[in-house]
Amino acid sequence: MPDKQAPHAVDAEFYHPADSFFPTHRHIALTYDDVTLATLYSEVLPRDTQLDIVLADGLHLNIPILSADMDTVTESRMAIAMALNGGLGLIHNNMPEREQLSEVSRVKNHIHGLIQDPVKVAPGQLIGEVLDMIEKRKFTFGTFPVVDDAGKLVGLLPGHVVKHRYAKRKVAEALTPRAQVHTIREKELGATPIARADKFFTDHPGIHKLLVVDNADHLRGLFTMSDVERITQERSAQFKPARDSHFRLICGAAVSATRNAFGDLDRERILNHVGGLVERGVDVVAVSTAHGHTKGVGDNARMLRDAFPKLPLIAGNVTSAAGVEFLAACGANVVKVGQGPGSICTTRIVAGVGIPQLTALYVTSRAALKKHVTLIADGGIVKSGDIVKALTLAHAVICGGLFAGCPEAPGQIMEISGKMYKQYRGMGSLAAMKTGSAARYGHTTNATQKVAPEGIEALKEVSASADKVLTQLVGGIQSGMGYLGAPNLTQLRQKARFIRVSSAGEREAAPHDVVEVKTEG
Ligand code: XMP
Repeated sequence: MPDKQAPHAVDAEFYHPADSFFPTHRHIALTYDDVTLATLYSEVLPRDTQLDIVLADGLHLNIPILSADMDTVTESRMAIAMALNGGLGLIHNNMPEREQLSEVSRVKNHIHGLIQDPVKVAPGQLIGEVLDMIEKRKFTFGTFPVVDDAGKLVGLLPGHVVKHRYAKRKVAEALTPRAQVHTIREKELGATPIARADKFFTDHPGIHKLLVVDNADHLRGLFTMSDVERITQERSAQFKPARDSHFRLICGAAVSATRNAFGDLDRERILNHVGGLVERGVDVVAVSTAHGHTKGVGDNARMLRDAFPKLPLIAGNVTSAAGVEFLAACGANVVKVGQGPGSICTTRIVAGVGIPQLTALYVTSRAALKKHVTLIADGGIVKSGDIVKALTLAHAVICGGLFAGCPEAPGQIMEISGKMYKQYRGMGSLAAMKTGSAARYGHTTNATQKVAPEGIEALKEVSASADKVLTQLVGGIQSGMGYLGAPNLTQLRQKARFIRVSSAGEREAAPHDVVEVKTEG
């Protein structure tokens, strides 16, 4: 019986491991579509593969996917969705510092299934006003907690009295009084609030709402039975939420290299802000810039490392081995790789600089191995197959464009010729730099008029929810691992065998010579 794992001599001649494939192609810079991965003997079913990854001490993800720190991609809503699916959201920093602190708090305090700021009504309001509010804000529900001016619970306005025939009556006349409303104290929720709420609904047939109050009877949240049931059904999901040691969702935040009037790093301001983030429980901060192999980024990383010795630190972006070694020496645990691959990037066009992503990942990965830092492939990912290829060299990926159309991304939906879109803009676009991101590209905000933008403003068609997008991406990664016989990401990096693809081969890879029929998923 031949050894199933041993490479066949003919295969070995054509399909090469990274350490021989990339040096052989050193004269040409390659990206995702330039290569394909060879299949290998497998006993691994895609559904059994493990996608967890430790990016740094204390930073454990259950899927190797991050959402980009961009102002049209990641705020608290996206970060919550990412962490609930096992990944990580990096909250952008194109907002006032205190707002970023609140965004981080929203993620860290998120209790799955608990509506933390439910829509409330006041006892003095007319039912007619409540009906107007429902109509104006397009609510699909009609039951509201009633609170007084101090936020204390007064009762519950049930949906069956929110009717036009009662329009002239006051909420106070129609509500279910406080004594009859089912509540639970915040501190009784314990470590598994959903399980607690689930038990309550089982024990109280016919009751569909459970209000959460503090010791002084201020309203702190609301559970609905339908949310709890949906979440309980999702429990069997293979990839658990990414949580910290206190069972809170994990969350990252980008920090900028703020400078004072003399052009020096504003140490006090940066350290105060990061101190605030740490107090709120941030799990990692990212010093995100277009050019990470610079004195400014190095000084910033070193200052943060000295001040917060245990805080996981992402720094970037680089595309060279020297860049990785430099950032590792400055204290980064995780290095972001990518200059110009992003879907909204124009760095390579404007500056003539940047390296196609797979070659950049190979070069940086060899330095990362030596320096014991992990790598994140940042930008240019448009399909799950790109992620599989990226993960043969990096430990995780960052996606911007893939999530920008999700309802969880910030921004309004706009309709153009019957199609729905959301804005997606580069952080180096003029519009983004004017609202604060100029430092990321080495410019001052008030000088943005004079500089050449390195990103564009664009639109993305509105997509499915982040949950659904992630399900597709994760499914693709698992398929890739099944084809390579890799049960986990370490094995994927070890087993990958590459070969160049011709342009005809690239055409062959996509559907061709057919008319595609869309099936609703
Ligand atoms: P994708 O391809 O996922 O890329 O949309 C997201 C990544 O692109 C980077 N980024 C930029 N790069 N000019 C650039 O050259 C820009 O204006 C810009 N904005 C974002 C960033 O690394 C992000 O994660």
